[in-house]
Amino acid sequence: MSKKFYVTTPIYYPSGKLHIGSSYTTILADAIKRYKKLRGYDAFMLTGADEHGQKIETVAKENNKDPQTYVDEMAEATKKLWKKLNIEYDDYIRTTEKRHEDVAREIFDKLMKQGDIYLGEYEGWYCLPCETYFTEKQLVEGKCPDCGREVRKMKEEAYFFNMKKYQNKIEEFYEENPNFIQPESRRNELLNNFIKPGIEDLCVSRTSFDWGIKVKSNPKHVIYVWLDALTNYITALGYGTDHDENYQKYWPADLHIIGKDIIRFHGIYWPIFLMALGLPLPKQIYAHGFLSIREGKMSKSKGNVVYPEHLYERYGVDATRYYLLREYPFDQDVIFTPESFVNRYNGDLANDLGNLLNRTIGMVNKYFGGEINVSELAQTEFDSEFETEVVKKVGEAEVCYDDIHFSNALEKVWEIISLSNKYIDKAEPWVLFKSENEEDRKKLISVMSHLVESLRIVGILIQPALPEASSKIFNQLNIEETNWDSTKEFKADRKAIKVVEKSEPLFIRLDTNEEIEYLSSLIKGK
Ligand code: MSP
Repeated sequence: MSKKFYVTTPIYYPSGKLHIGSSYTTILADAIKRYKKLRGYDAFMLTGADEHGQKIETVAKENNKDPQTYVDEMAEATKKLWKKLNIEYDDYIRTTEKRHEDVAREIFDKLMKQGDIYLGEYEGWYCLPCETYFTEKQLVEGKCPDCGREVRKMKEEAYFFNMKKYQNKIEEFYEENPNFIQPESRRNELLNNFIKPGIEDLCVSRTSFDWGIKVKSNPKHVIYVWLDALTNYITALGYGTDHDENYQKYWPADLHIIGKDIIRFHGIYWPIFLMALGLPLPKQIYAHGFLSIREGKMSKSKGNVVYPEHLYERYGVDATRYYLLREYPFDQDVIFTPESFVNRYNGDLANDLGNLLNRTIGMVNKYFGGEINVSELAQTEFDSEFETEVVKKVGEAEVCYDDIHFSNALEKVWEIISLSNKYIDKAEPWVLFKSENEEDRKKLISVMSHLVESLRIVGILIQPALPEASSKIFNQLNIEETNWDSTKEFKADRKAIKVVEKSEPLFIRLDTNEEIEYLSSLIKGK
C-alpha cells in the first residue's frame, strides 16, 4: 500500500473576497499535494470555509443577506476560484455543514464532561455598538479600537478550556519534536514567548451572538469560533462518525499550512485540544509569512488589493502560481511588486523556459523535419558535463521540494533551464547543421536529443507548480515517460523524437512598461 500524505490549508473566513496572499497558501498546498502524488503517495488535500462567528453575521447583514445565504454564495465563489487556479483539493469543508457541526458539538460536550472545559466568567471591555469584548491592551486610548466609542467593563458567563493542565505536556512535545513547527524561528518564538511563560486558559464560548454551534447542554452559549474551526481538520475526515475511513487512513495530518498570524491557534491550542481528546498530533505545521505591497498592507478600504483574478485572467494560471511559489521565501514576508511580477514572467517564463522549448522545437523541425531516430547519436564534448550537471540539479530540486522550500526548488529547476540554454550556445547546433560531415550530423542528433531530454526532465519537475505548462511541454514534444523517478537518469536516447510542427508559445512575452503600469494601477489605491 502506498504511503499517505494529508495536507491542509486554513479554512478561510468568507468575510470578503480572497486576495493573492491567501491564494498563495492554497496554491502551495496544491503544489505539495501534486508533488507527493508524483512521488507515489496517496495524497489528500483539504481546504474549506470558516463560516461561523460574529464577523460573518455582521458582514451578511451589511450585504442584506441572512448569514446562511451569504456563506453559501461565498463558498460557491471560492470553489470557483480554486478551480480556476487549478487547485485539486479532495474535500472542501464548511463549518456550517451538518457533518461538521454535529461532531464539533460532540467534541465540546466530551471535553466538558471530562473536565477540560469548565464554566467560569469572562471579564473584559465591551463595546455595545460593536457587540465585542476587548482586552485592556487592545483598547486605543481607552476606547473601542474598531469604532472609537466608549467601552465598559463587563462580565459574562463563559466556558473556558483548562490549558494550564497541558502546560508540561505541550512543552515536552515541543522538546521531543523540534521540527513540529516550521520555520524554526517561528517555533522558537512560540515556545519562548507563549508556551514557556505559561499558557492562559482559553475562553471557548460566547453568549453575545448566536451565529455558531450551540453548546449541547447549555444552548445560550455558542462554541468559540476557533474551537469550532480547528476541528475541521478531523471532522472533514469523518472523525466521530460511523464512516470514519478517511480519518483512519489520513489522520494525523502530515502538514497544516497556515499564515504566521494564526500560529498560536495551530501550534498551541490545536495540539492541546487533540491531547485532551487523546488523538495523535499533526506531524508538522508550516507557517508562512505575509504578502504585502511596497506601501504596506493591502486593504480593501484603501482599494489597493491584488486579487488572483487580476493575475490569472491577464497572465494565465501558471504564471500566477509560478510567481507566488517562486517569490515567496520559506521564512520571510514577501512584497508583491509590479516589476517583480513582470520580470518573473518575461525573464523566467517567456524567455528562459518558453524560448528553450520554442528553439528546440524549431531546430528539430528545421534540421530533421520534426522527427529524429536517436539511435544514430554521437556524443559531443559538452554532453557528459551537461548530463552530470542536470542530474545534480534534479537531486537538489528534490531535496528542496521535500523540505517544502518551493521557491528554492523552482530556482534549481530554472538552473537546469539555464544550463540547457547555455548548452545550446556551446554546442552550436547551427554550425553542426551546416557541416557536411556525417559525424557532425550524429552530434547534431545528440544535441537535439539532449535538449528534448532536459525539457522532459524540466516538464516533470515543474508539474507541481505549473501543471498546464508541463502538459504543454509533454504534448509538443510527444513525451510519454513522465514519472518522477525517470528524472534521476539523463537518457538522451529514451525514445525516437517527434515534435509538433509549430510550437505554441507557453508564455507570450509582455510589454514591460504597459504591464507594470497595469499592475501599478491595481495597488495605487483610492
Ligand atoms: N478562519 C481562520 C483560519 C481557521 S483555520 C482552522 C482565518 N481565516 S482568514 O481568512 O482570516 O485567513 C486565512 C489565511 O490567510 C491565514 O493563514 C492567514 O494567515 C492568511 N492570510 C491573510 N492575509 C494574508 C496575507 N496578506 N499574506 C499571506 N497570507 C495571508 O484566519
